Amino acid sequence: MEWEDYVFWSALITLISLVWHLRRKNNYRRSKLPPGPRGWPVFGYIFNLGNFPHRSLEALRREYGPVVWLNLGFVNTMVLLSAGAAEEFFKNHDLSFVDRFTYDSTRPHDYYTVSIAFGSSSTYWRTLRRICTSEIFANKRINDTMLIRRKCVDELLSWIEDEVEKSAGGRIVVRDFVFPAFFNMIGNLTLSRNLVDPQSKISSEFCTALAGFHECVGRPNISDLFPWLRKLDLQGIRKAADHSLGKAIEIISAFVKERVIERQQKQKLSPEQKDFLDVLLDYRGTGKAEPAKLSEFQVTIFLMEMFFAGTETSSATIEWAMCELLQNPDQMKKIKAELAIVVGAHKKLQETDIDNLPYLHAIVEETLRIHPPAPLLIPRKAIRDTKFMDYSIPKNTQVMVNYWAIGRDEASWENALSFKPERFLDSNINYKGQSYEFLPFGSGRRMCPGYPLAHRMVHLVLGSLLHHFEWELCDDGKIIDMRETMGVTAKKLELLQAIPKRKAA
Ligand code: HEM
Repeated sequence: MEWEDYVFWSALITLISLVWHLRRKNNYRRSKLPPGPRGWPVFGYIFNLGNFPHRSLEALRREYGPVVWLNLGFVNTMVLLSAGAAEEFFKNHDLSFVDRFTYDSTRPHDYYTVSIAFGSSSTYWRTLRRICTSEIFANKRINDTMLIRRKCVDELLSWIEDEVEKSAGGRIVVRDFVFPAFFNMIGNLTLSRNLVDPQSKISSEFCTALAGFHECVGRPNISDLFPWLRKLDLQGIRKAADHSLGKAIEIISAFVKERVIERQQKQKLSPEQKDFLDVLLDYRGTGKAEPAKLSEFQVTIFLMEMFFAGTETSSATIEWAMCELLQNPDQMKKIKAELAIVVGAHKKLQETDIDNLPYLHAIVEETLRIHPPAPLLIPRKAIRDTKFMDYSIPKNTQVMVNYWAIGRDEASWENALSFKPERFLDSNINYKGQSYEFLPFGSGRRMCPGYPLAHRMVHLVLGSLLHHFEWELCDDGKIIDMRETMGVTAKKLELLQAIPKRKAA
């Protein structure tokens, strides 16, 4: 053999063995990962997700089972699609997956470094969670602030009455009233002030800024899937987020600064008089395993996140519940009868009534089962290589718990696609994070810390709307369009319009 032939054949054999070795290694790696579609080279499964990722991902369960592996660009992703997989995840591996993914839209103003919802698990994040459970969302504070929420509901009811009087046909867009009411509830709890009303433009600037940021965080972003393209910000999402977030921070931080000055001239407040802002400014830590105090910037972001996390979610829940009830006259009749008996025909619903209203409770639960505001919860990230259900999940894998699919899984729910609040009557299933077929607020260390407040607000608003008015569908009872639109939260695509009528005296 000539030496050129020798070099040629040696190079060819080396190349073939290298390719074979790499393929074997890749197959070996894949064999330890959950099953899933391979998708396109480089892009992976991105193009198949569509506008409704929770729906497209649910469809994979039939072919691949409850744990699915995907590549989304360069992001390894594991999707959980059954109550059993969610149970294993939250019960036994919560800590290994406690981090969040850093979305590029959360980078401006270093937001992600102090965010409770989008920040990594850090000493600072743990401190915030502790403040939430022991102070902000503690039962005592929630009880102490009942009248504030009732005042906001009274305003909501009179806004609607005024509008009905003015408008021909008496129809209203439900969200236009419910959203500002939740905004003011959070405004009063955090800053002791109303921030909006449907007619005026007070701080509509803040609403617009927050909505703009919400939209940026909810949009699929190429920079998140191909990190080396981040600098280019190809869709302009980071720039838009920078602008909206900057505006929202400017508005809230002005309130914080104002309060810091006010407090220098005022006497100390009793615990009942404190709003969230006071609690945060009063916070003192050891300075070792926790910060000694919170900076004005940290306080500003925390307050902003209360609006961010608490308003869209709660308002969407009311809208979906109203849609379902308007299309289910028997259920509407049942809930109105319950309210009339428990609250009294001419009395106002109070938060102390909530525990005595099992059917109202069942309606809220059924709404959150079938129309969860966060269909994929908020994705988690693996902090280390982890053995999960016999699979080897590498560090930095993104995990989506498709709660939307779990809530509609026939294996967990009989007649899963029907809206049947009765299924929750006399049932032990609840949304406190231990019933893994029912996780609208998530579970584990990252579970929604605001759920005790959401529980009160949603029951109070929905119950009051139903008790105070007789509701009718518009357009001679035309079927309501029940399609959703996806962002950070899933909302109704077409806003619900309905006709509220004052009850006969
Ligand atoms: C119906 C209303 C609500 C729903 C359905 C909801 C749902 C959720 C869900 C699914 C998560 C992610 C949980 C996880 O990753 O496991 C979450 C996180 C969060 N929620 Fe809520 N939420 C609601 C209302 C509220 C309210 C009223 C507040 C506060 C005022 C709030 C504050 C938060 C915060 C701060 C986080 C981030 C927690 C963390 O990452 O550590 N939420 N929520």
